[in-house]
Amino acid sequence: MLERLESLRADALQRVADATGMEELRAVERDFLGKEGALAEILAAIPTLPAEERRDTGRGANELKGDILEAIGARKSSLEESEVARLRDAGGFDPTLPPAAPQRGGLHPITQVRREVESIFSSMGYEVLDGPEVELDYYNFQALNIPKDHPSREVQDTFYCDEAHTLVMRTQTSPVQIRAMERLSPPFRLIAPGRVFRNEEQDATHEHTFHQVEGLVVGEDIQVGHLTWTLRRLLNELFERELEVRLRPGYFPFVEPGFEFDVRCPFCEEGCRVCSNTTWIEFCGCGMVHPSVLAAGFEGRDDVDVDSLTGFAFGFGLDRLVMMRFGVDDIRNLMGGDLRFLEQFPC
Ligand code: FA5
Repeated sequence: MLERLESLRADALQRVADATGMEELRAVERDFLGKEGALAEILAAIPTLPAEERRDTGRGANELKGDILEAIGARKSSLEESEVARLRDAGGFDPTLPPAAPQRGGLHPITQVRREVESIFSSMGYEVLDGPEVELDYYNFQALNIPKDHPSREVQDTFYCDEAHTLVMRTQTSPVQIRAMERLSPPFRLIAPGRVFRNEEQDATHEHTFHQVEGLVVGEDIQVGHLTWTLRRLLNELFERELEVRLRPGYFPFVEPGFEFDVRCPFCEEGCRVCSNTTWIEFCGCGMVHPSVLAAGFEGRDDVDVDSLTGFAFGFGLDRLVMMRFGVDDIRNLMGGDLRFLEQFPC
């Protein structure tokens, strides 16, 4: 068997030395080292050999395998070098040219703005929380004081995940308010950015799948002034200047009083496309957390005195903020997945 190994070695090394291309080298590897190659045959025969030959045959086969691989590697390098030399001598090869730039991905514009918003709130001591996109009716509606007959609970508006309507694709990030109250001890401040879903007709400003950023602050003596200061601070940081804002009454069952928070259009003085010629942009819904929402969120918590607590909450659309920020005029571009659009926002 040892002579057989020696003759294989001579054959293999000769074929490697004679090889003039990668395909031939691959064939040598296959014929000698492959699953059905010559060495595999020898290894399979070892148990049938007399005991005194087995060890030397096994060792010899392993050594031969290493030697063949080494010879193939060396021949491969030398063939590559000659190929480079051939191309260089033939002209048209410039070794000083930089290599082709690797293709790099980038951050989606929604991710860019979300990270900016998170960083502004983190600098104000806010935690950033997450919540499930498939949500229980309890968190999305019931605990938020949204009655059974509220229009937003209709199947025309909400994607339900089961016949019994206990599971919904969340229609807002507000359910994170309740989940946070169940888990955290006041005082606390948090934001919860995330994806939400509504059974809506799509148009230039409406998507069925979009993003919101929820905000919630709970503690003692929290007032409307804290709410407006916080939203102004956010907008001033985002747009790098002081912008006029206004509060209008607004109805959301989970806040009382509730407001619509508008900001003076950062792009014009007399009206433009972004502000629909009104000079005001509706930025978000907000208000003081409704006492029954605090009661639902902190239910059963002996460590929390709900009566001593107040809080504010807000929720704004991230996609619309991205549109304002980058001058995008159709929301459907954002999640359309067209690289020609996305490549305009490198980051
Ligand atoms: C809400 O969803 C409330 N949860 C906001 C809130 C939170 C109020 C906390 C009070 C306290 P609304 O349905 O208005 O509110 O949506 C909030 C924002 O989401 C809107 O201002 C808008 O920017 C964005 N938005 C709503 N519907 C769509 C849609 N179909 N496509 C894109 N953005 C949308």
